[in-house]
Amino acid sequence: MVEGPFDFSIVKRAIENQLIEFNYYDLRQYAQPPRRQADDYPYGGGSGLVLMVEPIFKCINHLKSQRDYDEIIYFAPDGENLNQTTANFYSTKKNLLLLCGHYKGVDQRVRDNLITKEISIGDYVLSGGELAAMVFCDAVVRLIPGVISDLSSALSDSFQDNLIEPPIYTRPQTFNGWEVPKILLSGDQKKINQWKDQQSLTNTLKKRPKLMKD
Ligand code: ADE
Repeated sequence: MVEGPFDFSIVKRAIENQLIEFNYYDLRQYAQPPRRQADDYPYGGGSGLVLMVEPIFKCINHLKSQRDYDEIIYFAPDGENLNQTTANFYSTKKNLLLLCGHYKGVDQRVRDNLITKEISIGDYVLSGGELAAMVFCDAVVRLIPGVISDLSSALSDSFQDNLIEPPIYTRPQTFNGWEVPKILLSGDQKKINQWKDQQSLTNTLKKRPKLMKD
């Protein structure tokens, strides 16, 4: 599940260029043989299975014995909301350990004792933390110096300055009667920049007014 998105585009190139490294671990490998059961029914009843504390404890301890981690992050809908500011923060870190729950998530003792941060990618429930972890990785990796060849491209992303990016166009100048704004063809860079700033402000006010307040 996690290999697909990392085998594509910017993240794939970052791995090939050795700017980042991903390692995956299967919690079942840390569960008791021969059944290697990593989840069980919740105490007190209720639906769904819960990932057990022991395999997670063993896995995290094994990984911590190999390298130091800046953060051990658990993905959950009730975690801290991921946004561009948090993505910037994690892009400066060296080693991150990401733990993904599945179905009902993990035994609370994992969250209380083994995790240093909890992250959510939005107020909705996914079947597991894997997709959330991949969204997180994509948002963070593109900010690592060298990953995007044109640094100004990442820095001008929407939300970097609490503003939405201005509209963007490419050839042809006219398609189906739809025109590119004349100002972008004028060659007057100062006026173009003013137009872009104005568009950013107007779009942010219209689409994400809360960002302006923040
Ligand atoms: N796991 C399940 N739902 C999630 C969400 N919204 N964010 C992060 N991890 C999750």
